[in-house]
Amino acid sequence: MAKFQSVDELVKATRPVNPVYCIRKESIQTASRWFVQNFPGTTLYAVKCNPNEQVLQTIFESGVKNFDTASLEEIKLVKKILPEAKAYFMHTVKSKESIYEAYFNYGVRDFSFDSKFELEKILEVTNRASDLTLYLRIAISNEHAEIDLSKKFGATIPEAVTLLKNAKEIAQKVGVSFHVGSQCMHPVSYAKAIKDIGTLIKKAEIIPDIINVGGGFPSTYPDLYPRPWSEYINEIKNGFEKLNLPDTTQLICEPGRALVAESGSTVVRVELRKKQILYINDGTYGSLFDAGTPSFIFPTRMIQVEKSFSKRLTPFSFYGPTCDGIDFMKGPFLLPNNIKEGDYIEIGQLGAYGISLRTQFNGFYSNEIHEVSDKPIMSIFEEETNSNYLVA
Ligand SMILES: Cc1ncc(COP(=O)(O)O)c(C=O)c1O
Repeated sequence: MAKFQSVDELVKATRPVNPVYCIRKESIQTASRWFVQNFPGTTLYAVKCNPNEQVLQTIFESGVKNFDTASLEEIKLVKKILPEAKAYFMHTVKSKESIYEAYFNYGVRDFSFDSKFELEKILEVTNRASDLTLYLRIAISNEHAEIDLSKKFGATIPEAVTLLKNAKEIAQKVGVSFHVGSQCMHPVSYAKAIKDIGTLIKKAEIIPDIINVGGGFPSTYPDLYPRPWSEYINEIKNGFEKLNLPDTTQLICEPGRALVAESGSTVVRVELRKKQILYINDGTYGSLFDAGTPSFIFPTRMIQVEKSFSKRLTPFSFYGPTCDGIDFMKGPFLLPNNIKEGDYIEIGQLGAYGISLRTQFNGFYSNEIHEVSDKPIMSIFEEETNSNYLVA
């Protein structure tokens, strides 16, 4: 990974033919430290969001020592580059082989589940181990999230009552977890979910050792300006206090997007222009999956190499490089009116679910990843300076 002062310097020096992915360590540090200082419990980083080794290293060095892993490969990666880190296996549907390896070869003791079948699987594969921490994931509303996870995962409260009792019989510790959905635009979602846990606690008559509020903490996008993170933390603190649980019950969270989104950007080149549509060299089969069907609007900025640009910004849509028609990104992406073939664009907020979603479809794949030290195009922390957001 080469280092450049800025994205502009990188483009001027290398004139990249393929897409280039930029990482800003300082931005990862700022976000990770914010969570370590402000979340009233333990912060786990959700590795799926961006498993780049430098990113993981930076997160660890910034004080986040625990990692939410969803697969055996993620566990292996964390253990390889950060042997001191703790990995939690937080996917509710795991193969028996991966549970076995995680437990016996990689020392994982924390597993999540949302059905009796998964619970039985974990118990069978680990020979009913007595040192497990088992997290029951409950289904909650994802009404305020941009990406809904609620249909795929989670037990209903009636199901959860029995499951929690079953887990309690064998586990060393039991946790209850939820996910409000990714890019959750309203802090109240956390309070509502914690209230659901309160109902579960009353019905099951079991006090969990851990409450895991999951991920979902938002980043900022041109059309999505979330409330400050501190409001999310306050909702969690208030909701938790209302449960009136003993001091022994701990809180954990698993942010992905919030820690890394604004740290990464993709630099693309325009290969062709047809009116207001730009054919660019990365797309939905590359780092821009979320600009496709999930319709995220990412901030864009044209990179000045030689010519100067028209100050007038107009809306564009993008087509990616593959021969698939769904490799389309509607936008609108605002760019100078006189943009043309050969020009470079920086697309921001792609540190989350960007490089992790690349495929080799049609032979279009780039692994050019560099470090830059300029500021991201957009930052949730800019808002903070104006609104005392950084003050805990
Ligand atoms: C179990 C779990 N935890 C955490 C995350 C990270 O979510 P986010 O990136 O919205 O913070 C995810 C994302 O899918 C998840 O499935």
